[in-house]
Amino acid sequence: MRIDVAFTPAEVKGAVGRRAVVVIDVLRATSSMVEALVNGARSILPAAGVDEAVRKADELGRDSVLLCGERDAEPIRGFHLGNSPAAFTSAVVADRTLIMTTTNGTNAVLAGSAGSACLIGSLLNARAVAQRITELDDDVLLLCAGREGRFALEDALCAGRIARYVREFGSTATGNDALTATLRLSRTAPTGQTLARTAAGRRLDEIGRRDDIAYCAQENRHDAVPFLDEHRIRL
Ligand code: MLT
Repeated sequence: MRIDVAFTPAEVKGAVGRRAVVVIDVLRATSSMVEALVNGARSILPAAGVDEAVRKADELGRDSVLLCGERDAEPIRGFHLGNSPAAFTSAVVADRTLIMTTTNGTNAVLAGSAGSACLIGSLLNARAVAQRITELDDDVLLLCAGREGRFALEDALCAGRIARYVREFGSTATGNDALTATLRLSRTAPTGQTLARTAAGRRLDEIGRRDDIAYCAQENRHDAVPFLDEHRIRL
Protein backbone atom coordinates (compact mmCIF):
# COMPACT_ATOMS: atom_id res chain seq x y z
CA MET A 1 0.00 0.00 0.00
CA ARG A 2 1.18 3.52 -0.81
CA ILE A 3 -0.24 6.57 0.99
CA ASP A 4 0.39 9.97 -0.54
CA VAL A 5 -0.73 13.31 0.86
CA ALA A 6 -1.79 16.32 -1.20
CA PHE A 7 -2.13 19.61 0.68
CA THR A 8 -4.51 21.11 -1.91
CA PRO A 9 -6.59 19.67 -4.77
CA ALA A 10 -4.52 21.74 -7.22
CA GLU A 11 -1.51 19.51 -6.44
CA VAL A 12 -3.27 16.55 -8.02
CA LYS A 13 -5.44 18.36 -10.57
CA GLY A 14 -6.68 15.71 -12.96
CA ALA A 15 -4.23 13.16 -11.53
CA VAL A 16 -6.09 11.63 -8.62
CA GLY A 17 -5.66 8.26 -10.35
CA ARG A 18 -7.28 4.96 -9.45
CA ARG A 19 -6.59 5.35 -5.76
CA ALA A 20 -8.85 5.48 -2.73
CA VAL A 21 -9.19 9.16 -1.88
CA VAL A 22 -9.84 10.51 1.60
CA VAL A 23 -11.04 14.12 1.50
CA ILE A 24 -10.10 16.13 4.59
CA ASP A 25 -11.47 19.56 5.55
CA VAL A 26 -11.30 19.70 9.32
CA LEU A 27 -12.57 23.29 9.70
CA ARG A 28 -15.30 22.51 8.94
CA ALA A 29 -16.79 20.87 5.81
CA THR A 30 -15.90 17.20 6.33
CA SER A 31 -16.48 17.53 10.08
CA SER A 32 -20.01 18.78 9.35
CA MET A 33 -20.58 16.04 6.78
CA VAL A 34 -19.65 13.32 9.30
CA GLU A 35 -21.82 14.88 12.00
CA ALA A 36 -24.84 15.28 9.70
CA LEU A 37 -24.74 11.70 8.42
CA VAL A 38 -24.16 10.21 11.87
CA ASN A 39 -27.23 12.18 12.98
CA GLY A 40 -29.39 10.62 10.33
CA ALA A 41 -29.15 12.80 7.24
CA ARG A 42 -30.11 10.64 4.27
CA SER A 43 -27.32 11.94 2.04
CA ILE A 44 -25.36 15.07 1.17
CA LEU A 45 -25.08 16.42 -2.37
CA PRO A 46 -21.88 18.47 -2.74
CA ALA A 47 -22.31 21.51 -4.98
CA ALA A 48 -19.47 23.50 -6.54
CA GLY A 49 -21.23 26.84 -6.07
CA VAL A 50 -24.25 28.57 -4.58
CA ASP A 51 -26.11 28.73 -7.91
CA GLU A 52 -25.59 25.00 -8.47
CA ALA A 53 -26.77 24.26 -4.92
CA VAL A 54 -29.96 26.27 -5.44
CA ARG A 55 -30.51 24.63 -8.84
CA LYS A 56 -30.21 21.16 -7.29
CA ALA A 57 -32.66 22.20 -4.55
CA ASP A 58 -35.18 23.37 -7.16
CA GLU A 59 -34.78 20.10 -9.08
CA LEU A 60 -35.35 17.99 -5.97
CA GLY A 61 -38.04 20.25 -4.53
CA ARG A 62 -37.13 22.95 -2.04
CA ASP A 63 -39.30 21.44 0.72
CA SER A 64 -37.52 18.10 0.53
CA VAL A 65 -33.94 19.33 1.05
CA LEU A 66 -31.84 21.45 3.39
CA LEU A 67 -29.40 23.92 1.85
CA CYS A 68 -26.24 24.31 3.93
CA GLY A 69 -22.72 25.66 3.75
CA GLU A 70 -20.74 28.83 3.97
CA ARG A 71 -18.81 31.48 2.15
CA ASP A 72 -15.90 33.08 4.02
CA ALA A 73 -17.05 31.00 7.00
CA GLU A 74 -20.42 32.78 7.26
CA PRO A 75 -23.78 31.09 6.54
CA ILE A 76 -25.15 31.76 3.04
CA ARG A 77 -28.21 34.04 2.89
CA GLY A 78 -31.39 32.03 2.35
CA PHE A 79 -29.80 28.69 3.29
CA HIS A 80 -31.21 26.59 6.14
CA LEU A 81 -27.85 25.86 7.81
CA GLY A 82 -24.34 27.26 7.85
CA ASN A 83 -21.36 24.98 8.43
CA SER A 84 -21.20 24.56 12.21
CA PRO A 85 -21.08 20.81 12.84
CA ALA A 86 -23.00 21.08 16.13
CA ALA A 87 -25.97 22.53 14.22
CA PHE A 88 -26.44 19.30 12.22
CA THR A 89 -28.46 17.64 14.97
CA SER A 90 -30.76 14.69 14.40
CA ALA A 91 -33.74 16.95 15.12
CA VAL A 92 -32.71 19.10 12.16
CA VAL A 93 -31.22 16.67 9.64
CA ALA A 94 -32.69 13.18 10.29
CA ASP A 95 -34.15 11.69 7.07
CA ARG A 96 -33.35 14.89 5.15
CA THR A 97 -31.26 15.28 2.00
CA LEU A 98 -28.69 18.04 2.34
CA ILE A 99 -27.21 20.11 -0.44
CA MET A 100 -23.88 21.57 0.68
CA THR A 101 -21.53 24.10 -0.82
CA THR A 102 -18.46 25.42 0.99
CA THR A 103 -15.43 27.48 0.11
CA ASN A 104 -12.96 24.59 -0.10
CA GLY A 105 -14.36 21.31 1.15
CA THR A 106 -17.08 20.50 -1.37
CA ASN A 107 -14.76 21.27 -4.27
CA ALA A 108 -12.19 18.91 -2.75
CA VAL A 109 -14.88 16.19 -2.64
CA LEU A 110 -15.67 16.81 -6.31
CA ALA A 111 -11.94 16.51 -7.10
CA GLY A 112 -11.77 13.27 -5.09
CA SER A 113 -14.71 11.76 -6.97
CA ALA A 114 -12.27 10.57 -9.67
CA GLY A 115 -10.73 8.07 -7.24
CA SER A 116 -11.60 4.37 -6.98
CA ALA A 117 -13.30 5.33 -3.71
CA CYS A 118 -13.92 8.74 -2.14
CA LEU A 119 -14.11 8.73 1.65
CA ILE A 120 -14.86 11.64 3.99
CA GLY A 121 -12.24 12.14 6.68
CA SER A 122 -11.97 14.41 9.70
CA LEU A 123 -10.57 14.26 13.22
CA LEU A 124 -14.05 13.18 14.33
CA ASN A 125 -13.66 9.84 12.49
CA ALA A 126 -9.88 9.57 11.97
CA ARG A 127 -9.38 6.08 13.37
CA ALA A 128 -12.44 4.71 11.54
CA VAL A 129 -11.10 6.11 8.26
CA ALA A 130 -7.75 4.46 8.93
CA GLN A 131 -9.51 1.15 9.59
CA ARG A 132 -11.40 1.44 6.27
CA ILE A 133 -8.20 2.29 4.39
CA THR A 134 -6.54 -0.79 5.89
CA GLU A 135 -9.49 -2.97 4.82
CA LEU A 136 -9.45 -1.55 1.27
CA ASP A 137 -5.72 -2.30 0.99
CA ASP A 138 -5.52 -0.03 -2.06
CA ASP A 139 -3.17 2.87 -2.71
CA VAL A 140 -4.48 5.97 -0.96
CA LEU A 141 -4.45 9.70 -1.50
CA LEU A 142 -5.13 11.79 1.60
CA LEU A 143 -6.51 14.88 -0.12
CA CYS A 144 -6.50 18.02 2.04
CA ALA A 145 -8.98 20.71 1.04
CA GLY A 146 -6.55 23.40 2.18
CA ARG A 147 -7.69 26.98 2.44
CA GLU A 148 -8.08 29.30 -0.53
CA GLY A 149 -5.71 27.13 -2.56
CA ARG A 150 -3.01 26.99 0.09
CA PHE A 151 -1.73 24.65 2.80
CA ALA A 152 -4.02 24.35 5.84
CA LEU A 153 -2.30 23.05 8.99
CA GLU A 154 -5.46 21.51 10.44
CA ASP A 155 -5.96 19.33 7.36
CA ALA A 156 -2.29 18.25 7.36
CA LEU A 157 -2.52 17.32 11.04
CA CYS A 158 -5.61 15.22 10.37
CA ALA A 159 -3.90 13.48 7.42
CA GLY A 160 -1.03 12.63 9.75
CA ARG A 161 -3.35 11.26 12.42
CA ILE A 162 -5.10 9.01 9.88
CA ALA A 163 -1.72 7.80 8.54
CA ARG A 164 -0.51 7.12 12.08
CA TYR A 165 -3.56 4.97 12.79
CA VAL A 166 -2.94 3.04 9.56
CA ARG A 167 0.61 2.38 10.75
CA GLU A 168 -0.71 1.34 14.21
CA PHE A 169 -2.96 -1.20 12.47
CA GLY A 170 0.23 -2.85 11.18
CA SER A 171 0.59 -1.37 7.71
CA THR A 172 4.09 -0.63 6.42
CA ALA A 173 2.71 1.88 3.95
CA THR A 174 5.17 4.28 2.39
CA GLY A 175 4.44 7.53 0.59
CA ASN A 176 5.58 10.96 -0.53
CA ASP A 177 7.43 13.63 1.45
CA ALA A 178 4.11 15.22 2.40
CA LEU A 179 3.19 11.97 4.17
CA THR A 180 6.49 12.04 6.06
CA ALA A 181 5.86 15.65 7.03
CA THR A 182 2.32 15.01 8.25
CA LEU A 183 3.46 12.00 10.28
CA ARG A 184 6.11 14.18 11.95
CA LEU A 185 3.52 16.91 12.63
CA SER A 186 0.98 14.61 14.25
CA ARG A 187 2.72 12.60 16.96
CA THR A 188 -0.10 13.70 19.31
CA ALA A 189 -3.72 14.49 18.60
CA PRO A 190 -4.18 18.21 17.81
CA THR A 191 -6.05 20.16 20.47
CA GLY A 192 -8.68 22.84 20.03
CA GLN A 193 -5.98 25.35 20.90
CA THR A 194 -3.78 24.07 18.10
CA LEU A 195 -6.61 24.38 15.61
CA ALA A 196 -7.53 27.84 16.93
CA ARG A 197 -4.08 29.10 15.91
CA THR A 198 -4.62 28.17 12.25
CA ALA A 199 -5.83 30.66 9.64
CA ALA A 200 -9.22 28.93 9.50
CA GLY A 201 -9.39 28.86 13.29
CA ARG A 202 -8.59 32.55 13.56
CA ARG A 203 -11.33 33.35 11.05
CA LEU A 204 -13.88 31.29 13.01
CA ASP A 205 -12.84 33.05 16.23
CA GLU A 206 -13.19 36.40 14.44
CA ILE A 207 -16.85 35.67 13.60
CA GLY A 208 -17.69 34.27 17.02
CA ARG A 209 -17.64 30.57 16.13
CA ARG A 210 -14.84 29.45 18.39
CA ASP A 211 -17.03 26.58 19.64
CA ASP A 212 -16.83 25.02 16.16
CA ILE A 213 -13.05 24.69 16.56
CA ALA A 214 -13.27 22.67 19.77
CA TYR A 215 -16.03 20.54 18.22
CA CYS A 216 -13.94 19.71 15.15
CA ALA A 217 -10.96 18.81 17.34
CA GLN A 218 -12.73 15.85 19.02
CA GLU A 219 -10.69 12.96 17.69
CA ASN A 220 -12.59 9.69 17.10
CA ARG A 221 -15.95 11.03 18.26
CA HIS A 222 -17.55 8.80 15.61
CA ASP A 223 -16.87 5.43 13.95
CA ALA A 224 -18.69 6.22 10.72
CA VAL A 225 -16.93 6.70 7.37
CA PRO A 226 -19.10 8.53 4.83
CA PHE A 227 -18.31 7.94 1.17
CA LEU A 228 -19.28 9.45 -2.18
CA ASP A 229 -21.70 7.16 -3.99
CA GLU A 230 -22.43 8.43 -7.50
CA HIS A 231 -23.10 12.09 -6.65
CA ARG A 232 -24.24 11.67 -3.05
CA ILE A 233 -22.22 11.42 0.15
CA ARG A 234 -23.73 8.84 2.47
CA LEU A 235 -22.98 6.17 5.06
C1 MLT B 1 -14.13 24.98 3.87
O1 MLT B 1 -14.75 24.73 2.85
O2 MLT B 1 -12.91 25.10 3.94
C2 MLT B 1 -14.87 25.19 5.13
O3 MLT B 1 -16.17 24.83 4.91
C3 MLT B 1 -14.75 26.61 5.58
C4 MLT B 1 -15.67 26.88 6.75
O4 MLT B 1 -16.43 26.01 7.17
O5 MLT B 1 -15.61 28.00 7.25
